[in-house]
Amino acid sequence: MNKILIGILALVLVCFGIYKASASITNKEVNMTDKKVLVAYYSYSGNTKSVAEKIKSVTGGDLFEIKPVKDYPNDYNTVVSQAQVEKQNDTRPELKDNGNVAGYDIIFVGTPVWWYTMAPPVKTFLTKNNFDGKVIVPFCTHGGGGASSTYLDMQKLAPNAKVTEGYTTYEKSANTNDIKKWISNLNL
Ligand SMILES: Cc1cc2nc3c(=O)[nH]c(=O)nc-3n(C[C@H](O)[C@H](O)[C@H](O)COP(=O)(O)O)c2cc1C
Repeated sequence: MNKILIGILALVLVCFGIYKASASITNKEVNMTDKKVLVAYYSYSGNTKSVAEKIKSVTGGDLFEIKPVKDYPNDYNTVVSQAQVEKQNDTRPELKDNGNVAGYDIIFVGTPVWWYTMAPPVKTFLTKNNFDGKVIVPFCTHGGGGASSTYLDMQKLAPNAKVTEGYTTYEKSANTNDIKKWISNLNL
């Protein structure tokens, strides 16, 4: 009788172990020692959004899209000119929702590179939230010029955050394996 009970108990424990292992594989692929993770991004034409979604699938974090109240124009040349003026004026456009980083330990912050730095809605996001003591993990997509001063400028807007090494990719060239390696090497 005792042997049967021990057998049943062992079976239950094995099943529980398999369940826990499969849950951690589907929700999270990189061990972040149970930190709360937010993946916040702005994307004009989808490239940065696609990186953000990959990061979300690797970390199991929550996704937050930074959206300005007033959409940028669809016409490429118009948005390039507008963004140049906004860079000169250090514009911080109003957001539909400023987000809330309070409950998170690690905040991935993603942006397209606009005029050698982050897009203005990301500036607003960084200044409307309190990043003191948080870890910012930056990422960006660009059109050939690299990250330029994007990550240094993020650190300036969140001076009391720890800004880690970023993940920088050209247009749509991001791949999930590189993202996993980058995050693993950060030892978050
Ligand atoms: C207004 C504007 C300014 C840009 N400035 C730069 C730049 O300074 N350097 C660069 O390499 N690419 C620049 N690009 C290209 C974008 O960074 C690139 O296409 C990026 O992948 C777009 O990301 P998204 O699809 O998430 O909006 C600019 C694009 C736009 C629309």
